[in-house]
Amino acid sequence: SRIVVLISGSGTNLQAIIDACNSAEYPGEVVGVISNKVDAYGLTRAEQANIAHQALSHKSFDSREDYDLALIDAIDTYQPDIVVLAGFMRILTPAFVQHYLGRLVNIHPSLLPKYQGLNTHQRAIDAGDEEHGVSVHFVTEELDGGPVILQAKVPIFKNDSADELAARVHEQEHKIYPLVVKWLCEGRLTMQHEQAVMDGNTL
Ligand code: GRF
Repeated sequence: SRIVVLISGSGTNLQAIIDACNSAEYPGEVVGVISNKVDAYGLTRAEQANIAHQALSHKSFDSREDYDLALIDAIDTYQPDIVVLAGFMRILTPAFVQHYLGRLVNIHPSLLPKYQGLNTHQRAIDAGDEEHGVSVHFVTEELDGGPVILQAKVPIFKNDSADELAARVHEQEHKIYPLVVKWLCEGRLTMQHEQAVMDGNTL
């Protein structure tokens, strides 16, 4: 399968997916990387991996709708089967989501439905939670609200800083995201009636 990855930052999840794709038996290939930030380090990772990449800055567009239409054009140049959001820090328009519905996934650093939005690690600490984690989900029009595919949990230790907790969560992100993308490539994982379905079973 052809995979396009959207990023805004360091791209460690992108790297994990690139690394997974480099193993002979992996059923997918990253064919393009797009960042809305020109200085995202993930673009350098794509460059080093010889993957087509480009920055498409939202700053030169007047509206979210216009940007997302340009983004669709840029993505579709690569003719992807799957579009992977990996730290892409933009809210997407309904038109964008509809265009890729069922083949668009995101990774969110919380145990959804807890802590949608930003600053998830600090919020979990402040709430006194004993565990935290990460979710990979299909993207629907509701922000961080689409059907969850896979989660990984980590403990929160006494006196954890948000950075320490984030690092613990990141390790899990790099394990579960390539796995979910693999299932999508294999056609084992689909979205039906806004539910995630794996090998015929609703998750
Ligand atoms: C990750 O924490 C991910 O869960 C969130 O954005 C971050 C991206 O990190 N959506 P990276 O750019 O993949 O290192």
